[in-house]
Amino acid sequence: MYTEPTTFSAEAYFASQPPPPTLQHDIERVREFAKRQKQEGRKVVLVTSGGTTVPLELNVVRFLDNFSAGTRGATSAEYFLKAGYAVIFMHRQFSLQPFSRHYSHSTNPFLDFLDIEPSKDGNTPVISVTPSKRSDLLEVLTMYKDVHKAGTLHTLTFVTVDDYLWLLRAVSQELSVLGRNAMFYLAAAVSDFFLPRQRMSEHKIQSGKGRLSIEMDQVPKILKPLVDEWTKDGYIVSFKLETDDNLLLPKAKAALKRYGHQVVIGNDLHRRKYEVVFVSPKSPSSKTTTDQSDDEFEEYWLRIPIPDTSGNVSPHQVKEIEEDIVAELLKRHSAWIDQAKTTS
Ligand code: PMT
Repeated sequence: MYTEPTTFSAEAYFASQPPPPTLQHDIERVREFAKRQKQEGRKVVLVTSGGTTVPLELNVVRFLDNFSAGTRGATSAEYFLKAGYAVIFMHRQFSLQPFSRHYSHSTNPFLDFLDIEPSKDGNTPVISVTPSKRSDLLEVLTMYKDVHKAGTLHTLTFVTVDDYLWLLRAVSQELSVLGRNAMFYLAAAVSDFFLPRQRMSEHKIQSGKGRLSIEMDQVPKILKPLVDEWTKDGYIVSFKLETDDNLLLPKAKAALKRYGHQVVIGNDLHRRKYEVVFVSPKSPSSKTTTDQSDDEFEEYWLRIPIPDTSGNVSPHQVKEIEEDIVAELLKRHSAWIDQAKTTS
């Protein structure tokens, strides 16, 4: 028998799905980080990155996942750090991270960069970096060490959609102390459907009974309480991923009307590395409403040339669209902070 999927409100969701065991510890670290960045006068951006899983069993053997490797988030985090922002990098465990992403095990394996030089004195051989890779590595390593010394990067991990939603709520509430100096860059690919714990099989789902049917409920749209309750003054950037071009702009505008945040960055699955569109209200100060006309939103397309894939160019020399995305957001975030000063 078909039953209507339950539509959880955010409140009902948090009341019925348990928090991750490390939540309290994570919140305290974020609180300290936010406090220090505020004292030191830095803007802070929360970057969410990578995909969430949806477990199908309590003793989880199987889960649903999605394609995201976390490239957008990890790359953008690096550009925010370069621009002087402090970054809370909330990412899917084992997805790409700022700096180390340049040496991903599959595309640029780190061990391939190392040479073993025979020892001159008969003792232990010396490990050195292949000469052609040294300048790229030095640049990445210098940035990495500088960021660690300055204490401007804080990392949090999630795996399931539950972990993600609990963390997002807690972090956004903590960042509300920064007012307009906090930005939210929601690049994670968040599952739209989940299986409530109350309906999960305790043990591994057994085969041998023919077709498997699983009915999932809709994950509550978390942007609404984020904008209205958890962080009223944060500058909120959400992403919209589509595979059908005709849906990208209408869905981006629908999200702005529904949630009333500052900008949606639309991207097509296959062109996302070379083309994105910023969709935002023409009048950033006005409150958006669901009956607003589409003409009241503006589109700003960002494109970069498709890179040379011949292998003659070092990955480090290839232009990354995140550099331009972040540069555009820095301008918009500053204008938005200034706007509050002039209206207060
Ligand atoms: O990691 P890469 O391989 O580089 O890929 C990057 C990316 C394509 C994943 C990224 O650029 C992107 O588009 N991320 C958002 C994809 C997505 O989940 O879109 P959505 O339509 O499901 O959600 C749209 C927005 O609503 C998201 O910003 C999300 O924060 C928000 N949302 C989603 C689910 C939910 N329950 N509540 C929400 O508020």
